[in-house]
Amino acid sequence: MSLFKARILLYHKSAACQVFLQTFVKIRTIDTRAPPCYNIGMNTKRWLSQHTHDLTGVHVAVTGPTGGLGLALCRYLAGLHASLILLDRNAEKSAALQQQLLAQFPQLQLRRIPLDLADMASVRAACAELKTQPIDILIHNAGAYSIPRTRCDTGLDNVFQINCAAPYYLTRELLPLLRERGGHVVMVSSIAHNYAPTDPADPDFSTRRPARLVYGNAKRRLMFALQELFAAETKATLAVAHPGITLTNITAHYPKFVFAVIKNPMKWIFMSPQHACLSLLCGVFEKTGYHEWIGPRLFHIWGAPAHRKLGTCTPAESTAIAAQMDALYQAMKTPDA
Ligand SMILES: NC(=O)c1ccc[n+]([C@@H]2O[C@H](COP(=O)([O-])OP(=O)(O)OC[C@H]3O[C@@H](n4cnc5c(N)ncnc54)[C@H](OP(=O)(O)O)[C@@H]3O)[C@@H](O)[C@H]2O)c1
Repeated sequence: MSLFKARILLYHKSAACQVFLQTFVKIRTIDTRAPPCYNIGMNTKRWLSQHTHDLTGVHVAVTGPTGGLGLALCRYLAGLHASLILLDRNAEKSAALQQQLLAQFPQLQLRRIPLDLADMASVRAACAELKTQPIDILIHNAGAYSIPRTRCDTGLDNVFQINCAAPYYLTRELLPLLRERGGHVVMVSSIAHNYAPTDPADPDFSTRRPARLVYGNAKRRLMFALQELFAAETKATLAVAHPGITLTNITAHYPKFVFAVIKNPMKWIFMSPQHACLSLLCGVFEKTGYHEWIGPRLFHIWGAPAHRKLGTCTPAESTAIAAQMDALYQAMKTPDA
């Protein structure tokens, strides 16, 4: 019998030793195989042991788990024994992801709910299914940037719906259940939110051509609408987090030449998804205050996650965004919206 098992047998009935074991097990079982242990200005292993804890019995729903950051995040969550609900749109990718996670974490409790954020029927169906399950943490990680633009069945620009309208709808619908469990919402934002001050006459930016503007506007609207929604919230909490910049499929829709040129420099210059997603993981454990977010410490791009005050939106714009998003939610609630 290993020394580790002997300790468990000897101490498992004592409360004090349970605490010790929790700490010990947490440090021993966090998966550090994927990311290297060091990153600019931080020791990842130490950071994990200081800022995370065991998530046994905690049900975490994650959108976009098949993406670069989503997969990295799911690995950390699985290593911390969370029970995962994968919300994704591609059955094939999802099956591969489940296989990969279960091979690495055989004890992992994992369910899949199909969700295409660009399709309101799919959003409604996923929402109805989520309402039948316990959820403690809802992570809005799915996102799309430079994809071909279309109008969704809601009439909204698809980039806007994927990054803003659908996640907002899900949050509003699931909030009563999250409240019951003292739940927590994590929204994955972006530095790009600051490039696109909102336009009340064009909420979904469907008249704008540059992808960065539509994407930035969507992130801006979602993050400040949620900040306002949770400002008065007493039973559920919110964290807004961003990863800085990291090479994932989100940039794969750039023109081929541009992508070929930027791919390798991006890999070398910016943090890997495994490191960049630590800010998102931090958001799982820590809430953010009003107009505050979590992101990499150095120039918002490198280093350990840090809380920062946001000076990018006035309270007046923020409340106006919240009012517009509330009106949009009311419209989306009706099936023929
Ligand atoms: N990478 C960065 O530098 C960066 C910077 C700031 C913020 N972010 C944010 O980080 C989050 C994760 O992005 P990533 O970098 O990991 O990009 P990614 O690798 O492209 O992953 C995006 C994820 O979103 C999913 N998704 C896209 N459209 C969807 C839809 N219509 N319905 C449901 N899911 C959909 C994708 O699913 P499929 O696998 O099926 O395509 C994928 O799982 C996004 O919110 C992004 O805005 C990223």
